[in-house]
Amino acid sequence: MTFVKSLLTAAIACAALTSPITHAAPIEIKFSHVVAENTPKGRMANRFEELVEQRLPGKVDVKVYPNSQLFGDNKVLEAMLLGDVQLAAPSLSKFQKYTKQLQLFDLPFLFDDMAAVERFQQSDVGQKLLQSVEKKGLVGMGYIHNGMKQLSAYAPLKLPADAKGKKFRIQTSDILAAQFEQVGGIPLKKPFSEVFTLLQTKAVDGTENPWSNIYSKKFHEVQPYITESNHGLLDYMVVTSKEFLMELPEDIRPVIEQSLKEAIAYGNEVAAEKTLSDREAIINSGRSEVIAMSEDERAQWVKAMKPVWKQFEGQVGKELIQAALDSNQK
Ligand code: SIN
Repeated sequence: MTFVKSLLTAAIACAALTSPITHAAPIEIKFSHVVAENTPKGRMANRFEELVEQRLPGKVDVKVYPNSQLFGDNKVLEAMLLGDVQLAAPSLSKFQKYTKQLQLFDLPFLFDDMAAVERFQQSDVGQKLLQSVEKKGLVGMGYIHNGMKQLSAYAPLKLPADAKGKKFRIQTSDILAAQFEQVGGIPLKKPFSEVFTLLQTKAVDGTENPWSNIYSKKFHEVQPYITESNHGLLDYMVVTSKEFLMELPEDIRPVIEQSLKEAIAYGNEVAAEKTLSDREAIINSGRSEVIAMSEDERAQWVKAMKPVWKQFEGQVGKELIQAALDSNQK
């Protein structure tokens, strides 16, 4: 009996080896991000998954990991270079270790509005910046918007002096650290996944984020005041590793690139929508008071924070700063 069983097993193994039908395993794309699913980046990632799976069924398997489930932003790029994750879209503030040029986007009060940001990102100079991480083995596939950041805190931040002595959670960016130091604040670089707890336990006094991050992570429930400052930008670069991209089969790569392009365009529509609707939802929640900035107050914040431009001009590049400023002209 055992002999018959062995013969059968051997025959099956032989048939499998000589069979002309081979099913290659699908290419796996892990897309890791740190925000909630119902945010511009979260919805973009999910749309990318849908598009690729419609267009390349059985050939490519996309898995999206939101909410820092797989990697936090401070680890994801290292993991990508090791081949443990294939796509991510960290905030532009988190590329400092890979390029100094993208720090441009952290300069406070640089862009007048999101239309200027879009003009700059789509310009030749903006598109060239996507290549600034290539020397480190990464490829920028495109930008995706979240929006302008707002200041939030336990006490109202009307004037720069109100920030004095207060601790602010920031992303891992020296420019953002300098920005808060300019107003006498104490910046603390911490991962996004820790922000809610830091605010809830009052380990920090305040932070800065766009409306959709504040709303989706419920920061407004633990920050009684939000100053509508629009003082800086939080956008993303969709990134993959050069090695992964180059190894994709010729018939697969263009489909991935096209699907990303469409998903990004969709994510940008969501960003525009959510900037308005999440702001409204925060106001309607009654959990946090949204403080408007008068022109005069704004001028004081600009005056206090703008010296950061000069401080980082050498690293970022004077011409790059000028090109960004030019995009403020329609
Ligand atoms: C994100 O929007 O991806 C996170 C931003 C942050 O760390 O504040």
